[in-house]
Amino acid sequence: MQRISLSDNLSVSQIIYGMWRLTDDPDHSTVHLQHKIEACLDQGITTFDQADIYGGYSSEAELGNTLKQAPSLRDSMEIITKCGIVAPIGLHSDKNVKHYDTSAQYINQAVERSLKEMAIEQIDLLLLHRPDPLMDAQETGNALDALIASGKVKAIGVSNFRPWDIELLQSSTKNKLVTNQIEISLTQNSALTNGDLSYMQQHQILPMAWSPLGGGDLFKNPESPLNIKLNTLATSHGVNPAAIATAWLLRHPAQILPIMGSNDIYRIKQFSEASKVTLEREAWFELLQAASGHEVA
Ligand SMILES: NC(=O)c1ccc[n+]([C@@H]2O[C@H](COP(=O)([O-])OP(=O)(O)OC[C@H]3O[C@@H](n4cnc5c(N)ncnc54)[C@H](OP(=O)(O)O)[C@@H]3O)[C@@H](O)[C@H]2O)c1
Repeated sequence: MQRISLSDNLSVSQIIYGMWRLTDDPDHSTVHLQHKIEACLDQGITTFDQADIYGGYSSEAELGNTLKQAPSLRDSMEIITKCGIVAPIGLHSDKNVKHYDTSAQYINQAVERSLKEMAIEQIDLLLLHRPDPLMDAQETGNALDALIASGKVKAIGVSNFRPWDIELLQSSTKNKLVTNQIEISLTQNSALTNGDLSYMQQHQILPMAWSPLGGGDLFKNPESPLNIKLNTLATSHGVNPAAIATAWLLRHPAQILPIMGSNDIYRIKQFSEASKVTLEREAWFELLQAASGHEVA
């Protein structure tokens, strides 16, 4: 598995494992999560994506329980987490309305909690989960820089930010925002043309793609032109169809890092098949055409 350098002190695996759906897995045991993590590590997938809000603010603790049980795993992992969404559930069930909070006080409290929940000393990469219309860029930027200076966080980035949101925060932050985690897949492909990927490529901010398989939607209709094309290419490359959909993202010059979300151990063990495939230009466009239902202009 290729290693991708995000900053002087942080490199990640080209494919990332996301833990948003962790609490949907009927098996919540620490040993089962350990097996899923080990299945990733065996393929060189060393980077894991979390957020304070996942599982109604309970997912980080699930990871923490596994790391307490098998502490040596931590040495082989890079852990990403996010903060900034306050939803009136779990930890925040006293709140009335879902909102964003990127104040220094909130970010600092969220980081302390994430470190404790995951039983780790340092967050490898901290992301602001969503752009906050009430963000005071100077305050937020200073807070992020201070977290790096304190050693609690190794690197910083954002999620679901548009280019102008990135510009604003970067103008108030000494440390580089190393990634923007956005939705990109064959079927949710607006980032190709709305300036997001162009901006990131120009500024060497590596995109992370959430829901790279459309949250499973790509495979809902086996008779769809997209599924037929994915299956044909999968057969010719000797891999599974999800690997072709993932390879479609890897082919983009912005160096998209897909975050896979399956809970299925059999599918997890096949994640790295995608990195064996380099799609020809024409095959790449055939997939885009099949997904969008029309040829490019
Ligand atoms: N920053 C953000 O705002 C944001 C938002 C959403 C997600 N994320 C991150 O992105 C990660 C991935 O998102 P995601 O889970 O939506 O990714 P995904 O990989 O696109 O979707 C995973 C879903 O697709 C299903 N699936 C996978 N392969 C399949 C196949 N071959 N056939 C049928 N179904 C299949 C999985 O079911 P099984 O479990 O049964 O395999 C699972 O329900 C999350 O874990 C999270 O870390 C970030």
